This record gives sequence, C-alpha cells and structure tokens, in this order.
Amino acid sequence: AAWEKQVRRSSTPRRPNGFSVLVTGAAGFVGSHCSLALKKRGDGVLGLDNFNDYYDPSLKRARQNLLKKHEVFIVEGDLNDAPLLSKLFYVAPFTHVLHLAAQAGVRYAMQNPQSYIRSNIAGFVNLLEIAKATNPQPAIVWASSSSVYGLNSENPFSEIDRTDKPASLYAATKKAGEEIAHTYNHIYGLSLTGLRFFTVYGPWGRPDMAYFFFTRDILQGKSIEIYKTHDQKEVARDFTYIDDVVKGCLGALDTAEKSTGSGGKKKGPAQLRVYNLGNTSPVPVGRLVSILEGLLNTKAKKHVITMPRNGDVPFTHANVTLAHKDFGYKPTTDLASGLRKFVKWYVGYYGIQPRTKKETQPTGDESG
Ligand code: NAD
Ligand code: UGA
Repeated sequence: AAWEKQVRRSSTPRRPNGFSVLVTGAAGFVGSHCSLALKKRGDGVLGLDNFNDYYDPSLKRARQNLLKKHEVFIVEGDLNDAPLLSKLFYVAPFTHVLHLAAQAGVRYAMQNPQSYIRSNIAGFVNLLEIAKATNPQPAIVWASSSSVYGLNSENPFSEIDRTDKPASLYAATKKAGEEIAHTYNHIYGLSLTGLRFFTVYGPWGRPDMAYFFFTRDILQGKSIEIYKTHDQKEVARDFTYIDDVVKGCLGALDTAEKSTGSGGKKKGPAQLRVYNLGNTSPVPVGRLVSILEGLLNTKAKKHVITMPRNGDVPFTHANVTLAHKDFGYKPTTDLASGLRKFVKWYVGYYGIQPRTKKETQPTGDESG
C-alpha cells in the first residue's frame, strides 16, 4: 500500500492539465534528464528501470539519488514483467509514456545479441500490449535511433530515407521497433511517436560511449583508438547535446495526440510519427578527440585504425526540418560547448583534479 501511494503521488501532475508520464529507462542517461525536466515543469513522473549492469550500475544509482532529491520515484523492474506493468498502469492513470529503456550500444550487440532482443523487441511489445489494453490508452513517445539509417548514403538523413540496410543487430532491433509500432497503431489505434536520436552526449552520460571513455583514457594516459573508414575517410557523428534532446522529447510529448482506441469507434487515424533529433553538423571522431585534449590539457595517445566491421556506420547526419516544423526543435549546443559541460561534470563526479596548462608543459626536469 505504501508502494501504491508513492506511485500515485509521483504520477500526479502538479499543474492543471499537466501530464502523468511513465518514463521507462529513468535511471539511464536520457531518461534521468527527461524525468527531471518533466518534473520541473510540473508534470507527474514515475520512472521504471531494471538497473542492469551493462555499464556501471552505481552511476544509475547516483542518477536515481539525484531524481529522488527532486521527488521523482523509480520503480525497479523489467519491461518484460507484465504483471508489474499492468499494476503500474492500474494504479497510475498515465496520459503519456516516454519509453527510453533499451539495450543501447552498437558494438556490444556482437557480444550479447539476446539482450537486444529481450529489451528492444520483447520488452517493447510487452509495454505496447499493456498500453493497448489500458483505458484510456496513453500516448507513447519512444526512442528509436539514427542507426536505423544503416548503410544508407544519402546525406543528410531525412525521415523518408530508406532504412533497409542496418549495420548492427542493435540497429535491426530499433528498426524492428518502428515496424512493431506501425502494427500497434494500425490495429489498436495507439498514438506512437518514434524519436531517432543521434549520438547523444553530456553530463551524466554513458560510460560505454566513445566521448566518455576517451575522457577517462586520456586522463589515465591510456591509448585510444580512432576509427577511419576502409577508404581512409574520417568517421563522423552528428553528436547531439543532451539538453537539445530533452527539449525534443518534451516537444514530441506536447504534440502527441491522444490515442483513438480500438474497436472500430475511431474518429480518425491515430498518430504515428517518426522524427530525427540530431544536431545537423557531423564532426569527425578525430576532431572530438582534439576538443577533449584541449579541455583536459592533455595529449591523447592516439591510434588511428581502419574501422573494423563492428556494426558502426561511416557517418551520421540529421536533417531535422520535420521536428522543427512540428514542435519547434532546434539544436543550439555545438560540440565544443557541450563537451566543456560534460568534462566539468566528469571531473566533479569522479573527484579528479583537472590539470592546469602549466603541468602539461615539458619542464626539462623529468626527475622532479
Ligand atoms: P541508457 O543505457 O543510459 O538508458 C537505458 C536505461 O534503460 C538503463 O538505465 C537501463 O538500466 C534501462 N533498461 C534497459 N533494459 C531494460 C529493461 N528490459 N527493463 C527495464 N529497464 C531497462 O541509454 P540512453 O543513452 O539513456 O538511451 C536511452 C534510449 O535512447 C535507448 O532506447 C537508446 O537505444 C536510445 N538512443 C540513445 C542514443 C545515445 O546516444 N545515447 C542514441 C540513439 C538512441
Ligand atoms: C551511439 C549510442 O551508443 C547508441 O546507443 C545510439 O543508438 C547511436 O549513438 C545512435 O545515434 O543511434 P555511436 O554513434 O556508435 O552510438 O556512439 P559511440 O559508441 O560513442 O561512438 C562514436 C563514434 O566513435 C563512432 O563513430 C565510432 O565509430 C567511434 N569510435 C568508437 C572510435 O573511433 N573509437 C572507439 O574506440 C569507439
């Protein structure tokens, strides 16, 4: 009963006509930022996360503690736990679901393929099954990925471009999510909005991502690998700052129409949308590294290697015209300013004494 009270209290909005949002993956990078932003503007927010150990779970716990300070509660449980999800939807009448829980990471899919099927396909279907059976049905906004464009070479990527050549199992499961969403929209009238995020970075980020472990390895004097394509081109990503992505997620929630419900009583077709949320300016990985070197006052030990066939695509580049038109999405943070904020967070979180310019100058006296 105490649990139910907490669930009910957390999911109740603090402003008239505010949303009641279930955020899955709330202890994750994007989920924790979005949960805080929703709470701060007065929406009711309840989190769900299984706190798995794909990366350091203590970072997920630290994000949970931060949310707790702002009275956002995270239920510990799995997307595949149907009785738990049913109970949550029964206790809290969610108007919206922001579905961010997934097995992320492109290259890890070669090590643990089943975890992608379990969370990104089976878990997503389980959530949709519960949502479809709920009355009234919540509008669902979920995380797809820039990786669905796969080996498409149209530059920049638009939502109407082909997505039939995924380069990794991760991308294939994200693409499958979009197809699955189509069927739930078609049959049950669920309102569904997919957001294709482009390599999101920032404070409280993911330790499995390159900008994060490059920072760690540069500070520890370990060597890093920078990938180049087989034809010796630089690999580039449309790195997108977390605050821009959060604004995009909230914009998508704000413009999500209610579901029409099933049973042939539809007034019109329910909403099914897909948007790019990127930065619109791809940056080569080598440039990412030189920005970090400057911010950390430390030279990286770099190995430039030809990109192994590991699921990576050679470049990503978002066209965000559609998200701009429909909910005013406009990325405003360039990579250098965003990385500055990340590094500031990183040294604070890990208690690292940043090196001053002086320390990195050769002194000519190595014996100290
Ligand atoms: P993240 O790993 O930090 O967050 C995902 C959270 O979901 C984690 O806290 C994890 O514990 C939880 N989770 C995973 N499987 C679960 C399950 N079966 N049940 C309950 N909880 C589960 O990742 P993120 O970077 O915050 O990504 C959020 C979403 O955005 C994911 O869907 C990811 O695929 C997508 N995405 C991220 C990026 C990026 O660059 N960060 C880019 C494109 C797409
Ligand atoms: C990121 C996220 O990890 C995925 O979850 C997400 O779905 C994806 O963005 C997306 O946009 O859809 P990725 O772009 O591979 O995937 O992010 P990183 O793992 O941080 O890699 C960034 C770049 O660095 C890539 O071009 C990669 O090839 C390169 N890289 C990575 C290196 O040069 N060296 C390394 O050791 C690792």
